Amino acid sequence: LEAEAAAAIAAAADAEALAQVTQNFTGKKGALTGVMKQLGSLTPEERTAVGKAANTFKAKLDELLAAKEKQLTESKFASLAETEFLDLSVTPPEFSQVRGGVSSGHTHPITQTQRRLEAIFTSMGFSIVDGPQVEDDYHNFGALNFTDDHPARDMQDTFYTVTGHLLRTHTSTVQIRALESMKPPLRIIAPGRVFRYEEVDASHEHTFYQMEGMIIDRKVSVGNLLHLMQTLLTEVFGREVDVRLRPGYFPFVEPGFELDMKCLVCNGAGCSVCKHSGWVEVLPCGLVHPNVLRSAGLDPAEWQGAAFGLGLNRLVMMQHGIEDIRHFMAGKLEFLRQF
Ligand code: PHE
Repeated sequence: LEAEAAAAIAAAADAEALAQVTQNFTGKKGALTGVMKQLGSLTPEERTAVGKAANTFKAKLDELLAAKEKQLTESKFASLAETEFLDLSVTPPEFSQVRGGVSSGHTHPITQTQRRLEAIFTSMGFSIVDGPQVEDDYHNFGALNFTDDHPARDMQDTFYTVTGHLLRTHTSTVQIRALESMKPPLRIIAPGRVFRYEEVDASHEHTFYQMEGMIIDRKVSVGNLLHLMQTLLTEVFGREVDVRLRPGYFPFVEPGFELDMKCLVCNGAGCSVCKHSGWVEVLPCGLVHPNVLRSAGLDPAEWQGAAFGLGLNRLVMMQHGIEDIRHFMAGKLEFLRQF
């Protein structure tokens, strides 16, 4: 029986097989159990001898089982180490081209520029304010001097909701919200998402980002506005930029302008003046219209204002030489990892 047990134990290939062998000898119907059951029918002398032998066998069996179990456990972990090892010092191949081998993830290129602008403006005493993306007609149009039948409403193709609200078409809504909640003099910027019912192509998106800016003070001039815009663009492009103003129409500013800058070509490394240097339109701005001040309860004889509406997508496209506005929202890592 002992030889039989030793062979069976040696042959067990895994813990399960070993458990079966154990069962075969010491289980309810096991060989050893069978021997023990017969003890009662033996003479006292035989009983002593067989009992002794059975105990010796049991001890030997336990010893063999324990040794085999240890061996099986060891070889199991040894083979796990072969097949499932984890080398924490290895850089996964898909990340190896990113940032010197370690990818920490990062913010979206629009967020990066937005944060930089926020830092510049807060350093000049501006507060960052926010407003809802689902708006009412009053804040998006009415209070901004668009009368109900004003043709300028057509400049902004609008998404309306079934409840009569709309998705804000510009961050100028926040000019009104700031005037409602803050006392002048004030300086605010309002970055955020805006929506237009656009035919989407390489330069038009239905969802994009703007940054509104507004100053209200006792005396605000076009000169102040121009200086502010020049500071902003110099910071963004990391070099001196030439700007000029052209007349532009928006119902909530008077006078209203389109601000152009001398064309720059940029890539990750920096910007230089375009070969056939022309002007490019970068942002609309102007002095706050007296009707806007009035609708906020301010006396235009006492208070003046300047405002601008920076299109963040377009600015970031120029900054990095991005050719298609649709990249921003496509969620493609190949694109995002470049910034
Ligand atoms: N809100 C305008 C737009 O989105 C831009 C603008 C803002 C113009 C502030 C003048 C002053 O088209």
